[in-house]
Amino acid sequence: MAAAADSPHHLLHLLLLIFSALPLLAPASRSQMTPPPPPPPPMINRYVLAVHKDSATGLHVANVLKRTPTKPIFHLVDLDGGMVWEHCDEQRYVSSTFYAPPFDDYLCSPAGKARFSRTCSGPATPATPGRPGCHNNSCGLLAVNPVTKRRAVAELSIDMFSILTTRGSNPGRPIRFCKFYFACAPSSLLRPGLPAGVHGVAGLGRTPISLQSQLASHCGFPPMFASCLTSVSSNDNRGVIFFGDGPYNMLPGVDVSSGLLYTPLTFRRRGKYFVGVRSIRINWKPVPLNTSLLGHVLAGNGRTRISTTTPYTILEHSIFVAVTRSFTSELSQTPQAEPIPPFPACYERARFPGTRVGPRVPIIEFVMQDEDTIWPIFGVNSMVEVRPETLCLAFIDGGSRPKDPIVIGAHQLEDNLLQFDVARSRLGFSSSLLLRRTSCANFNFTSIAPQGE
Ligand SMILES: *[C@@H]1O[C@H](CO)[C@@H](O)[C@H](O)[C@H]1NC(C)=O
Ligand SMILES: *[C@@H]1O[C@H](CO)[C@@H](O)[C@H](O)[C@H]1NC(C)=O
Ligand SMILES: *[C@@H]1O[C@H](CO)[C@@H](O)[C@H](O)[C@H]1NC(C)=O
Repeated sequence: MAAAADSPHHLLHLLLLIFSALPLLAPASRSQMTPPPPPPPPMINRYVLAVHKDSATGLHVANVLKRTPTKPIFHLVDLDGGMVWEHCDEQRYVSSTFYAPPFDDYLCSPAGKARFSRTCSGPATPATPGRPGCHNNSCGLLAVNPVTKRRAVAELSIDMFSILTTRGSNPGRPIRFCKFYFACAPSSLLRPGLPAGVHGVAGLGRTPISLQSQLASHCGFPPMFASCLTSVSSNDNRGVIFFGDGPYNMLPGVDVSSGLLYTPLTFRRRGKYFVGVRSIRINWKPVPLNTSLLGHVLAGNGRTRISTTTPYTILEHSIFVAVTRSFTSELSQTPQAEPIPPFPACYERARFPGTRVGPRVPIIEFVMQDEDTIWPIFGVNSMVEVRPETLCLAFIDGGSRPKDPIVIGAHQLEDNLLQFDVARSRLGFSSSLLLRRTSCANFNFTSIAPQGE
């Protein structure tokens, strides 16, 4: 194009040539005209799951449709979880499609290191032999409560699973998978720790029997999913998890899969998700940190874990102290309120003007692999209203020898779109969708499936 612009005469000649040739070409091309190719088949191999925020715990809960006849069952969303588990003790577990695969099932072995052949003689547990969760020669696994970290023996099981299809916006009809693997765990594993009303855990880790792996392999798309957790806990506000690639459309017609920044994603410790935070800045000033704690980010060896079952981001003690100190010194002119444990830095809300992305407080930035890949955290994600009108810096001290120096928790993930591109080992992140005048509660869940079928 540059050449054509430089020499308009060449362009003119070219056009004249084309136009003079047209009458010759036209009859031939018409006689060979073939019908236009059929439109590409509609893409339906993407799925969408509604997720609400539990007000008591701040954790996020998915409405999973299972069994025959289909029943909605609330599952805690656990990004790190290696499996989907549910408690099957209840005598009302009614499903015509349930069965327990034998110990030699092809997915028993990859499902867990801790697998074993199980004998269930009952009635030591509320389950009785032959009921869901209690079979001989079945595949035993260890299920984990991600909040308390308690473990219990669970039984690999299969039942029907349904999920809504989507082409990016309003969901269409649900699709059913008959051979969905999950584990039947004892109900004692649920409480304490999990929100009331929750009957299981939906693990999204990089393991063969996690929810995202099973959907991707059933449907033949590369493993990829995106989480968009809502910040508001109310019945009318539902966040969303998409399985498959974008578009992910939020009202008013914003495709939030566009304009993402990408950072390398690594998987460690049974399929948990890690990214590399290289340094932290507050109001564009670097926070003095011992960066060797953060791992070799450039070697793709970042040590920052992402977790949906951690309510607030946890920082290793020295990082926590440095971040808190830098943040409060940026606000040295603003009087602090009484600390509200576990949060040491609190302020009255009235001290800060409101913005689209929450109270105007110093911006915390996670610098990823380079200076162009920055995850900014604005007031709406960095502060939490612990008491009415009192805001605290929403980070937690993780002590001096935590497994992971930084664990990015749910409060910092809310109203941010995160695309876990497992196949290409990269994470796409949007920063706050509020900047784009939308939010994670803006997916339109009104079904557009034809009625009466
Ligand atoms: C499993 O085996 C035990 C003893 O080996 C037996 O008592 C029990 O009834 C069996 N359970 C089922 C479901 O067959
Ligand atoms: C920085 O962290 C590394 C890894 O934990 C540790 O070995 C080193 O002593 C620390 N350096 C300083 C100056 O604290
Ligand atoms: C949601 O989608 C339905 C069906 O297309 C439409 O009628 C409705 O207006 C949409 N809601 C909003 C808030 O745009």
